[in-house]
Amino acid sequence: MAPKHPPRAGRGGRDLEVNPIFTREPLTVPRYRLPAGEMEPSTAYQVVHDELMLDGNARLNLATFVSTWAEPEARMLMAECEAKNMIDKDEYPRTAELELRCVRMLARLWNAGDPHHAVGCSTTGSSEAAMLGGLALKRRWRERRRAAGEPADRPNLVMGVNVQICWEKFANYFEVEPRYVPMEGDRYHLGAREAVELCDENTIGVVAVLGSTFDGSYEPVADIAAALDDLQARTGLDVPIHVDGASGAMIAPFLDPDLLWDFRLPRVASINTSGHKYGLVMPGVGWALWRDEEALPDDLVFHVNYLGGDMPTFALNFSRPGAQVVAQYYNFLRLGFDGYRRVQQTCRDVATRLAAEIDGLYPYYRLTGGGDLPVFAFRVREDFDGFTVYDVSAALRESGWLVPAYSFPENRTDLDVLRVVVRNGFGHDLAELFMDDLRRTTLRLRSQKQPHRDPRQASGFAHGAEPKKVQARKV
Ligand SMILES: Cc1ncc(COP(=O)(O)O)c(C=O)c1O
Repeated sequence: MAPKHPPRAGRGGRDLEVNPIFTREPLTVPRYRLPAGEMEPSTAYQVVHDELMLDGNARLNLATFVSTWAEPEARMLMAECEAKNMIDKDEYPRTAELELRCVRMLARLWNAGDPHHAVGCSTTGSSEAAMLGGLALKRRWRERRRAAGEPADRPNLVMGVNVQICWEKFANYFEVEPRYVPMEGDRYHLGAREAVELCDENTIGVVAVLGSTFDGSYEPVADIAAALDDLQARTGLDVPIHVDGASGAMIAPFLDPDLLWDFRLPRVASINTSGHKYGLVMPGVGWALWRDEEALPDDLVFHVNYLGGDMPTFALNFSRPGAQVVAQYYNFLRLGFDGYRRVQQTCRDVATRLAAEIDGLYPYYRLTGGGDLPVFAFRVREDFDGFTVYDVSAALRESGWLVPAYSFPENRTDLDVLRVVVRNGFGHDLAELFMDDLRRTTLRLRSQKQPHRDPRQASGFAHGAEPKKVQARKV
């Protein structure tokens, strides 16, 4: 039988001391080594629970786009489904059916011409969905090139330098040259003309983001599509668009129904979203959809046995929790269109109100106002040099608020901002408490003679809004 933990003192402070506060015998637990023996479940629970107390409070996390609140019924369903593996479609056919229904609902929400022929799947989040979207673009481009007898060894992907880090990963992992359009002046995201200027015969697609991780602004998808239509008319180059709607694909359909960004634009080949962002599910689910079967090359699709039949799957993972997919279906059923619209409108109301209040508080001004995504970025005025956004971020952390500060990428690396993400569960009351803390913090910081922190002391919680280097374009 495995020996119990020896009751001895911590080794050089590296082991965890579990002294008799748990009314059990004193023992130490190795931190980085598998313990030799067992311990009581309640002791192990207490040790883990206590360590986690030092994590930030998720509800005060204004950095993340990912849900930090869910209804008790959604959590109940997730607990009921915790043993279900999404890949076991044959064993859990009802879960597989709920996934399919979610795909159909999203296809309709994103105006696919024929929702029954749109293809799609759940993923672990937008990052995996972006990899799948990018892979499909790459494969389609390669097929077109080979069919035309042209070389297919130097693919590139055009996008704004503001894309989330997942696109940098896609380019790196799948060997595609990333062509980033830099920011310029007050243009903090991709512009249509600038996107087209970087396209050539090796461009597998353009990524348009709805909306930007850096400041919450929507990119002009319809303008980009029109500029690419024009490019095709002039040169014959047919460059598809993938819309990264990690957040916005679950905001725009409800709050901006007239905005053209989705499958209504024939050039939009695929769209991703994070179910765990404004889809309102706890972390662990995303969605990728293609406008039709033609947009998703069949040789990327694997087939699994499903109810004795055949089920196509497209995923990077094999095993994956089914609970989040079930929770997504619950949310769709529970909220319906009106419920989502009400939740998202409340987030936008809170964001726009907060952005306006901060804009009126010296020495800040807002770059965006929370009117696209319920997300906004604000900065310290140029003529003020008593403290930096990094000082503000650190000071707010003292009262529990996590508000990221970071600098913008090229060509606006001179710009340092703070960003607030308003999510379901961050209502007007919490926003008021945040504003009180920001006022108090600002007053205190204004007595500082000079800044204490710069970008090197920024905490790393910008949620993927890290600057990238715009490489010289290869010719
Ligand atoms: C625009 C955008 N794309 C992709 C991602 C990555 O999403 P996920 O965290 O679901 O992988 C994010 C995350 O913030 C994002 O803002």
